[in-house]
Amino acid sequence: QPQDFDLFTLREEHELLRESVRSLVETKIAPYAAAVDQEARYPQEAHDALHAADMHAIHIPEQYGGAGADALAACIVIEEVARACMSSSLIPAVNKLATVPLILAGSEELKQKYLRPVAEGRAMFSYALSEPDAGSDAGGMTTRAVRDGDGWRLNGVKRWITNAGVSEYYTVMAVTEPGIGTRGISAFVVEKSDEGFTFGAKEKKLGIKGSPTRELYFDDVWLPGDRIIGEPGTGFKTAMRTLDHTRVTIAAQALGVAQGALDYAADYVKQRKQFGKPIAELQGVQFMLADMGMKIAAARQLTYAAAAKSERNDPDLTFYGAAAKCFASDAAMEITTDAVQLLGGYGYTQDYPLERMMRDAKITQIYEGTNQIQRVVMARQLLKG
Ligand code: CAA
Ligand code: FAD
Repeated sequence: QPQDFDLFTLREEHELLRESVRSLVETKIAPYAAAVDQEARYPQEAHDALHAADMHAIHIPEQYGGAGADALAACIVIEEVARACMSSSLIPAVNKLATVPLILAGSEELKQKYLRPVAEGRAMFSYALSEPDAGSDAGGMTTRAVRDGDGWRLNGVKRWITNAGVSEYYTVMAVTEPGIGTRGISAFVVEKSDEGFTFGAKEKKLGIKGSPTRELYFDDVWLPGDRIIGEPGTGFKTAMRTLDHTRVTIAAQALGVAQGALDYAADYVKQRKQFGKPIAELQGVQFMLADMGMKIAAARQLTYAAAAKSERNDPDLTFYGAAAKCFASDAAMEITTDAVQLLGGYGYTQDYPLERMMRDAKITQIYEGTNQIQRVVMARQLLKG
């Protein structure tokens, strides 16, 4: 069953992929994770390594030059990179987030034009939904695209855009018909070189400091007519359908950072001696480890189940994507915080990676919809029956 995968035993190809990403991460990404955080700089080493190994956007279908990897494979790449460096894991994660709208709803010409350069490592893609005054209420956006000749004229501001400035291409949602709510929103491809398109300063953040986040400014940017993704008025739906798929990748990211923190802490407690013996022998410590492992196991099953639903485009993906993202990110916050605790004072310093992991984990409860919004999404699905 090439399109399917077993929830309980991964297929050999997924296990082999995990092994190869893990060894790439150990040699080419993990050694730079602390410096990337401390210097708040783009993880260029990870960028180069992921591109060289063709792991920067493995989800892109083969007909557009990609590897055509399934949703679980994309999760495994993101999970393994996040296990060592959350900032770096946003390279494959955001390439997927921003290209899924095209894959789901773009014309054949748009796909050929914009997916191939990403697959071939010549360009990156960012996703621009949020605005200064429209975050959770994404449908309340005010960025406006007005018909102008045989194209569109774009004006407005997007906020919090990951990889802004690094990416060549941007999927941008804008209002094309005001007054009719989300049915008046359309999605477009904007190029970095389009005249009138500029960027704000890099945000100074609590975590994922290596991942650049900036505002986008559109000042009378003219877009040719064929840059629209799908029909006018379908942009919000495309944006939401995309998030159904990519909230699964955020769950994978959360899973990765949680696993990285548990692995580090489990190792540490075997070495650290207090009261004349390794603290791993204390039952209070063992119970903490057990809870951490249990939460990771549950988060992994839910995340991989959601990946299977993403791959099959199951009708209950909306629920599963939200559930996996919410559960795994809450677990990641708890597990990374407990991992800091297990290292005591050492965990609180930059001499160890756990305070970074704890700061990085926090974002997974906020982006791609806060965990309150995931609960809104899940409850709506449940009440729909
Ligand atoms: N699939 C298909 N259609 C969907 C859908 C889905 N999952 N969710 C909503 N829709 C459709 C609805 O059916 C409805 O269509 P009709 O007009 O035909 O009835 C339309 O979209 C509007 O839906 P709602 O009435 O449910 O819309 P709403 O205004 O109440 O908002 C929301 C719903 C779930 C709160 C949404 O605004 C939301 O998800 N907010 C969070 C925003 C978010 O996640 N942003 C992430 C930004 S990207 C990011 O953060 C990336 C990163 O960090 C790396
Ligand atoms: P608000 O919507 O103002 O929320 C504030 C608080 O109110 C939250 O606790 C929220 O849960 C709560 N709240 C709001 N509505 C409800 C409700 N109905 N019920 C209960 N509680 C509610 N966006 C993009 O488009 N592209 C990106 O690449 C991107 N990358 C990001 C990277 C970073 C580092 C960050 C911080 C954000 C990024 N975002 C991106 C934006 C992100 O998706 C939003 O920050 C998020 O959706 C929340 O919106 P907000 O910040 O405006 O918070």
